[in-house]
Amino acid sequence: MDEPILARPRFSPPAPTPMREPPDLFSFLRQARDNPLATWTRDHFEKPVVYGKGVLGRVMVLSEPRAIRHVLVENAENYRKDALTRRVLAPGLGQGLFTAEGEDWRTLRRTLAPMFSPRHVASFAEPMAVAARRLTRRLARREGRTVDVEIETTRLTLDVLERTIFTSGLERDPDALGRAITKLFAAIGPVDPLDVLGLPEWLPRLGRIQARPSIDFFARVVDELIGTRRALVESGAEVPRDLLTLLLEARDPETGEGLDDLDVRANIVTFIGAGHETTANALTWALYLVSQAPDVRARLEAEVDTVVGEGPVAAEHAGALPWTKAVIEETMRLYPPAAFMSREAIAEDRVAGIRLPAGAIVMIAPWVLHRHTLIWDDPAAFDPTRFFGEARGRIDRYAYLPFGAGPRVCIGAAFALQEAVLALAEIVRAVRLDLAPEAVVEPVQRVTLRPRNGMPMRVTRRAG
Ligand code: HEM
Repeated sequence: MDEPILARPRFSPPAPTPMREPPDLFSFLRQARDNPLATWTRDHFEKPVVYGKGVLGRVMVLSEPRAIRHVLVENAENYRKDALTRRVLAPGLGQGLFTAEGEDWRTLRRTLAPMFSPRHVASFAEPMAVAARRLTRRLARREGRTVDVEIETTRLTLDVLERTIFTSGLERDPDALGRAITKLFAAIGPVDPLDVLGLPEWLPRLGRIQARPSIDFFARVVDELIGTRRALVESGAEVPRDLLTLLLEARDPETGEGLDDLDVRANIVTFIGAGHETTANALTWALYLVSQAPDVRARLEAEVDTVVGEGPVAAEHAGALPWTKAVIEETMRLYPPAAFMSREAIAEDRVAGIRLPAGAIVMIAPWVLHRHTLIWDDPAAFDPTRFFGEARGRIDRYAYLPFGAGPRVCIGAAFALQEAVLALAEIVRAVRLDLAPEAVVEPVQRVTLRPRNGMPMRVTRRAG
């Protein structure tokens, strides 16, 4: 298919203006707490490597695809998730796949990988479509009114996780889990200055104390569900083929070992933690960007109307919406839900021609990489044609990293992409969302990259 021509000038959505110079310690801590996106300097967006000693010790910010490949793939054994990442995420996510390291991680990854095989992910298209339809029914009832799209997409992604992890639902107030998760992430979200400074773990962090009841609530609900399902599996009764059953049946292909209840719980919490806000943000930003680019929207509506028709969206549409997918991919370029990844060098290494001592931190920041002037043409502009047709194949694998790369690449990438494409198509089929006139849109990095003030949008029905 010919690549579409989009109107010029293209729309450049909001982003903090990079600073000219690195900030002093005090300003850095203040900025990092308020919005880490505002701490990047011009050099980061213009140079392939920025290396120096700063607040976090020796840090290399790497935006050179070849060198990124070296760190994430070729010499991945020499890098572990750094202490800051572990400190920020472990209290919420527990010892699941995201936070595990070394042999524990290798065993877990081997054991869990088959759960996210293309066959299993395809089997989740159906519950994803059902959840998307539930969302559009809710939106259609709000015709002419303003909704917070961030809240709506988060309800959708929790609904999808609930349907794919526990087919039969939580058998309790579904919003209770949603509320606990939102509270949990609100409390652990802002990066704690004590963590940035590397102060000892035993020093109490306010955020973590506030998060405790939500973590405990989570653990209680999930433990009950595991207990009931394990009994069902062991009784030989017919069980739903959802992620919970897959976790209970998962075996390490090398040793035949299964997971104990604690592992099962930690990984359920991890899937919910790693998979709900990220996917919801991708959808929220996509709906915002589309609302600001009439030519992109027209093409999106045309694709959805042709492929999905009267609808609703169904599982078989998942692979048949290339423009919808390009919109999601371009959205995650401009607003990558995981805005940065960091690693700590275990032993000395040479990266991009520079000697990197053991203990140094390597930061690979999709926020920076995806807006880098050496990599992208007109980097700030929203233009899904970059990801459409042949153009997609020209993007360097290590220049676009919404899901990371190498052995620790997101295990849920195909799941998330399929969910986002189906949901965006179903929303576009059913309604048109326009930014509320009073909205002030500003990206801010908490654990994930989200709109600081939510995303108020007005609903107009397109179809039934
Ligand atoms: C748009 C949605 C998503 C984005 C942008 C995203 C992004 C990422 C990124 C960048 C990483 C790698 C972090 C690193 O290397 O430091 C990662 C890892 C991970 N993600 Fe996702 N993710 C998404 C959805 C999901 C979903 C839906 C699930 C599960 C159902 C999930 C589960 C995980 C897990 C378990 C890991 C850790 C993998 C490992 O270390 O072996 N993610 N994700």
